[in-house]
Amino acid sequence: ATLLVTGGAGFIGSCYVLARCTAGDTIINLDKLTYSGNLEIASANMQFSHIFVHGDIGNEELVEYLLKIYQPDAIVNFAAESHVDRSIIDPEAFVRTNVLGTCTLLRTAKAWWNELAADRKDAFRFLHVSTDEVFGALQPGDPAFTETTPYSPNSPYSASKAASDHFVRAFYETYGFPALITNCSNNYGPRQFPEKLIPLVTLNALARKTLPVYGTGSNIRDWLHVEDMPAIQRVLEAGKTGQTYNIGGNSERTNLQVVHGICDVLDAVCPSAEGPYAALVKFVTDRPGHDFRYAINARKLSSELGWHPTHTFEEGLRDTVLWYLNNKIWVENVQSGDYRNWMQTNYVGR
Ligand code: NAD
Ligand code: DAU
Repeated sequence: ATLLVTGGAGFIGSCYVLARCTAGDTIINLDKLTYSGNLEIASANMQFSHIFVHGDIGNEELVEYLLKIYQPDAIVNFAAESHVDRSIIDPEAFVRTNVLGTCTLLRTAKAWWNELAADRKDAFRFLHVSTDEVFGALQPGDPAFTETTPYSPNSPYSASKAASDHFVRAFYETYGFPALITNCSNNYGPRQFPEKLIPLVTLNALARKTLPVYGTGSNIRDWLHVEDMPAIQRVLEAGKTGQTYNIGGNSERTNLQVVHGICDVLDAVCPSAEGPYAALVKFVTDRPGHDFRYAINARKLSSELGWHPTHTFEEGLRDTVLWYLNNKIWVENVQSGDYRNWMQTNYVGR
């Protein structure tokens, strides 16, 4: 198949692009290469089945051109501003890409799709990659989020993702545009930009810097290895249009458990003469509006589409930490000027 993938130079999108190229699909990868987009995937030609286009999902003329030239069978929309802490500092950037950008992409794709021949029109799909954060926060003991949990976003990031989900839904209901949504829990794995908890703590520990834990470290996330994201392909191929599908890892851990897990791996594989890494933990001012707990009930995906996560969190975490240890050039490249600015903005004096 030919897929227009947006945000395919980011953490999850690049993993998807690599998997689909390997499976024999042709990928048109439209990515703006923001601070979190990585040129490494952009320059991989993967035997010509990967066509990288540097651009914005909100650029109507460009998207129109790509649809006309490449005639994709589906669009998979990963492109987004994705970091909660950045959304607290600059909410508008999240409105621009996640809300306006997604709406322009939908409108442009719908106009093109409308003119397709009946068989191609029936077969076309638009998959929007969203998050469990749109459901808001759970307390301990609350049942996990299902597809019918009401939206209750608490951060500018989750508000922007919720808004984009509503537009996707509205395009299905209003125009019959064949869209689907996935709501996924926290991903981790290789190539995640080190503003997110797991790579940030790993790299800070290796540099013997403090490990910033927000609040008391008792917040809970449900972790899913990025290589379990074939879930996306399953939904694209077999999901019902107009439906949403939860994706989760069945791996709830407190942040402190995650941080100690990283320290344990490092203590085992590169012990420091200065003592255990966990001594670097520093409890810092909490994230404003910090959601206490996320947990995903992914029964719909497993019972209807037969998908199950395959990685255990402990093995996945160990492999991830080792990946960062073994990929020093990648790490040095991403720890560029912008990264240093962010570490200054978000952590100094916190
Ligand atoms: P990321 O920040 O690593 O990657 C985002 C990519 O989108 C980057 O390559 C960036 O350059 C690109 N991009 C940003 N704005 C763009 C624009 N206007 N036009 C084109 N490209 C643009 O994010 P990620 O963690 O890979 O997340 C991918 C998607 O999955 C996002 O939609 C996110 O909301 C969602 N999601 C992420 C997680 C997670 O744990 N990381 C969990 C659930 C859902
Ligand atoms: O749930 C899915 C979401 O997971 C995605 O939609 C987002 O794109 C993705 O960024 C992620 O959001 P989180 O806010 O949960 O991820 P983050 O890695 O930023 O933080 C994980 C937890 O760790 C959270 O409770 C905040 C805490 N934390 C984070 C950082 C960066 C710290 O304690 N210290 C930190 O320095």
